[in-house]
Parts: sequence; C-alpha cells; structure tokens
Amino acid sequence: MAAEKSGCGKGCGDSGIHVDVKDYYSKVLKRSSDLKTNACVTPAQPIPAFIRQALKKVHPDVSDRYYGCGLVVPECLEGCRILDLGSGSGRDCYMLSQLVGEKGHVTGIDMTEDQLEVARKHVDYHMKEFGFKKPNVNFVQGLIEGLTEAGLEKNSFDIIISNCVVNLSPDKKRVLAEAYSVLKDGGELYFSDVYSSGRLTEEIKNHKVLWGECLGGALWWKDLLQLADEVGFSPPRLVTSKIITIENKELQAVLGDFKFVSATYRLFKVPKGNTKTCQVIYNGNITGVEESFLFDCHYTFKVSVEVDGELATILTSTRFKEDFTCQPPGGPSAPCGVKPQAGIVDPFELALQLEKQVPGSATGGCCSTNSSACCK
Ligand SMILES: C[S@@+](CC[C@H](N)C(=O)[O-])C[C@H]1O[C@@H](n2cnc3c(N)ncnc32)[C@H](O)[C@@H]1O
Repeated sequence: MAAEKSGCGKGCGDSGIHVDVKDYYSKVLKRSSDLKTNACVTPAQPIPAFIRQALKKVHPDVSDRYYGCGLVVPECLEGCRILDLGSGSGRDCYMLSQLVGEKGHVTGIDMTEDQLEVARKHVDYHMKEFGFKKPNVNFVQGLIEGLTEAGLEKNSFDIIISNCVVNLSPDKKRVLAEAYSVLKDGGELYFSDVYSSGRLTEEIKNHKVLWGECLGGALWWKDLLQLADEVGFSPPRLVTSKIITIENKELQAVLGDFKFVSATYRLFKVPKGNTKTCQVIYNGNITGVEESFLFDCHYTFKVSVEVDGELATILTSTRFKEDFTCQPPGGPSAPCGVKPQAGIVDPFELALQLEKQVPGSATGGCCSTNSSACCK
C-alpha cells in the first residue's frame, strides 16, 4: 500500500489507500473476530454501567462488525448534534443516539458501502427500541477528508467523535481541518485512535495488512499535538490510554521495536492561549457523571478544582458552561490541595501509569498523583 503522506489531493477523490481500506473493511473483514491483531478492539477504559445498558440495545448485526479501539462517549450530550467519522456499521452512532435523546441528532459518515448498508438497515429497529417517533440518526457516504464535499455544513456540529479511523487516513491534517470547519465554535473533537511511539518506517506504512489493522497508519503521538495546533484546535487533552499488544508474531516482526497505544484525546474549537488559572465549581448535574466527572487524565471534577487557563476557557465557553462556575484562585471556595502539576501528554506514559493502578480505582491517571483534582 502506497502511503500518501502528502495528502489525498484536491477534491480528495478515492486514493490507493482509500481503495485498499475499503476492500479491507468490506472483503477481508466480515466481523470483529476476523481481525488479525487486537489493535482495533483494545478498549482504553472500563465501560460505565449506563453505557453498557445503551450498548445492550444495539442490534447484534451492528455490534458484530464493531472495529473500534476505545470508548467514545463524551459527557453532557442531551440535545447535541454529533458527527461520527468512519462510523462503520454504526455501533457508536446507535449508542450515542440514545444519549443525545430525541431532540439531539447523530450523523455517521463512512466511505465503505458494505458498512453503511449494515448501519442503514437497522435504523427503524433502533428507533423502535429507543421509543423515538422519528429517526435521530442518519448515515452519509463520503470521505472524512472531505466532510463539506459530502454535504455536511460548516459550523453545524457540537461534537465530533471517531473510533479507530483517523489512523487509516492518508491525510490526517486534512481530516482534522475538515473536522474543525464543521464544528460549531465551542465544539469538541473527542476521539480514540492508535498512536505509535515514533514515526513509522516506509516498510511499515506500505504494509497493507498493518495499515488495514490500524497500525501502519498510526500517527506518532507528538505529531498529533503539532497537527492539532496547525489546524487551530486548543492543545489536545489526553483522557486515557492503553498499550496495544499485537499478538501476531509475523506482524510483530515487521513492527520491530515500535510500540502502540490506543488513546483518547479531546480537542476543542475555543480561543487558545489563556494562561490564568481558575477555580471552577462543578454543579454535579451532568448525566452519568454526577458523582465524579473525569474530564481528562489530569482533572476529575468533584466540587471545586483549580484548573489551568486553557481548561478554564474550555469549561466556560463550550457546552459545559452551564455546569461550571469559575472564580479566581483563592476565592470564597478555597483551592483544595496542591496546584496541578504540568500535565502528561504522552499516552505511553499514561498507559504505564494506569496499568500500575489498582483495578476499580479511577480510570484517569490523576487521582493517585494529583490531589487538587480529586478532593471533595
Ligand atoms: C477500524 S473501522 C472502525 C469503524 C467504527 N468506528 C467502529 O468503531 O466500529 C474503520 C472504518 O473507517 C472507515 N474509513 C477509513 N478511512 C476512511 C476515510 N478516509 N473516509 C471515510 N471512511 C473511512 C472504514 O470504511 C471503516 O468502516
């Protein structure tokens, strides 16, 4: 497979990589068990009960074709318009359709006909199952490098999610730029993907099976930080991360010493550069995270937490603004604990830290190390 690092060209018609990836997700793979490594199905965090309930209602034909590598359920979803990049057979769209409710909407976009066919076939089944009068889900055929060309409106989505797809694109910067343009101001790109410990060699990038298995096209995690900045997003906030064990000797030999993680980052379309720390108070009203809201690996909100300026901007200028109040540090509700330490952005470091944690303890890395973000 020729890795077109320079992009997929103007108009972004199907490139060689797109054709190979479509073949992989229509002819080679028919169900999750056909995968040759566990890269695409490595969950990065335990699944909360309310999400397990939502997943139980998804039709088995859809779930059997799930190839995601993480859990893409941001918080505060009621009434939101969500876009899923590379929605596949639609598992995450149907899960989120329940969480946004009848007044919200979820659009899935994918380039592979076979995947879309499975997703579309089950719209009526799910709407009946969820008790919705009219569908709040639709599926669009198109490339994630060409969202506006596929008919999606600029500035029209509150949230974009994606589960194990951006790595498959030959032009990741274009994917991020398109996502930025269809997000509303204050919108969020919350996505799970596979990242490598360094820039991969041409041999690895040109390996069709490794590319199809979501390894050959994996970004070096530091390149994500760079691309996100170039496109205009605020610095990526790392939520969770898990080491991927390849468990295929032949493919492992081609990969050599490179390591891989499945990691979830959140990127916001908000003004950048706020350096003033702020004391934020969470009202505890967000569904599913009333007791404890793990925003990223540094911050878990209970009541009052001193946060960095970038996060203060996010919490007061996005859909979260109704749920947080912000005051200068040392205000009436004094800071609880020490100032947050400089944040981890390396998903490999976080994955190792999480592996050491006791099962059942917080899923983010902060609580064992950062008391300011965890006190109640
Ligand atoms: C690893 S699967 C993940 C599917 C889905 N997110 C899930 O969790 O089951 C990758 C999906 O992305 C789609 N895809 C890959 N590259 C794409 C692109 N450039 N544009 C649109 N869809 C793409 C494939 O067709 C496939 O359905």
